Amino acid sequence: MVYAAFRSIGAYAPEKILTNEDLSLMVDTTDEWITKRTGIKERHIAAENETTSDMGVKAAQLAIERSGIAKSDIDMVICATISPDYFCMPSTATTISHKLGLPTVTAFDISAACTGFVYILSIAKAFIESGMKKNVLIIGAEKLSSITDYTDRGTCILFGDGAGAAVISATKNKEEAIIDVHTGADGAYADLLMTPNGGTGSPHDALENEASSCFMQMKGNETFKVAVRTLTKDVKEILADNDIEMDKVKHFIPHQANLRIIKAVGDALKMKEEQVVITVPKYGNTSGASIPMAMNDVYENGNLKSGELMLLDAFGGGLTWGSALVPFSPLKK
Ligand code: ACO
Repeated sequence: MVYAAFRSIGAYAPEKILTNEDLSLMVDTTDEWITKRTGIKERHIAAENETTSDMGVKAAQLAIERSGIAKSDIDMVICATISPDYFCMPSTATTISHKLGLPTVTAFDISAACTGFVYILSIAKAFIESGMKKNVLIIGAEKLSSITDYTDRGTCILFGDGAGAAVISATKNKEEAIIDVHTGADGAYADLLMTPNGGTGSPHDALENEASSCFMQMKGNETFKVAVRTLTKDVKEILADNDIEMDKVKHFIPHQANLRIIKAVGDALKMKEEQVVITVPKYGNTSGASIPMAMNDVYENGNLKSGELMLLDAFGGGLTWGSALVPFSPLKK
C-alpha cells in the first residue's frame, strides 16, 4: 500500500503592508471597528507587477528546498487560486511550473476559494495513493487585492495577498500518512460570496465595466453564521470518522477569515488556546493561501515538529468546505 505524506511547507508574503489606518483613509472605517469585528490589523499587498504565480513560485521554492526532494522528482503541480494570472488560460500552475523549471509535469488549477488548499491536498493524496504520481507540489496563491473593491468597506478590510506551498510525497510508512481529507460543496449558497460579473453567467459587454468585473461581493453577516456552523461540523465529523480525540491534535489550523469566527469555532469545540493557530491579524484573509501561510508561521517559529498532528479546517465561496487530519512528516527530521 502507498500512502501520501506531508513533507514540507513554505510561504511568501509580499513586502508592502496595508494597515487599518491606511484603509481608514480610503473608506469610512476605523482601526477600532476592523480590529473588534475581524481581529485584522494589517495585510500584505503584492506589488503592481507582482503576479499570483510570482508569489506561488517563491513559496514553492521554499517548500521544495525544505522537502529534501529533488526538484526534478516533482511530477505534478496543482495551484488553488481565485485570482489567477490569467482569467481562463494558461493556468497559474503551468506558469509556476515553467518558472520553476518543471516545464513538462502535469499542472492545473482548481477553484474552491478559501477551501482551495484542502481541496488540492485531497487531490494530491488521491493521485499518490493510486500510484499515478509520486511527488506533488501543491500551492495556494492569491492576489486578492486584484479582485477587491477598495470602495466597499464591507470587503476591502478583509483581504490580503500571499502564497503557501507544500510537497506531498509517496511513502510506505503508514505512520507518516495523511490520515483523512474531507471536502464538500453546496452551490445553493453561491450568492453569499461571489464575483458576479465577467463570466458566462453575467458577461460584461461594455469596456468600462471591465475593471470591476472581477470584484468580490459578499453577504458578510450571513457568511459569518454559515462559516461557524460549517467549520465546527467539519471538525466533529473528521475526528469521529477517524476515532481521534481533539487532544491528539497539536495544531488546529483553520482558514484565517476572521478572528471572531476562529474563536467561536475553537470555543464550540472546547479547544485549548495553544492548539489554535492564529495569523489573521497580520495577513488578513488570503483565501487559498491562508492555511499554508499560517502553517508556515508555525514552522518558521520552530513549533511544527515531525510527527505532530495538524487539523486543517476551511470554508469559502461556492460554498465549499473541507477538513484534513495531517501528521507533519518531513524527510529531514
Ligand atoms: N467599518 C465600519 N463599519 C462597517 C464596516 C467597516 N469596514 N463594514 C460594515 N460596516 C457597518 C455596516 O454598514 C453595518 O452598519 P449598519 O448597522 O448601520 O447597517 C454595521 O457595520 C454592521 O455590519 P455587518 O455586516 O452586520 O457587520 P459584521 O459584524 O457581520 O462584520 C464582517 C462584517 C467583518 C464582514 C463579518 O460579517 C465577516 O467576517 N463575515 C465573514 C467573512 C468570511 O468569513 N468570509 C469567508 C470566506 S472568504 C472567501 O471564500 C474568499
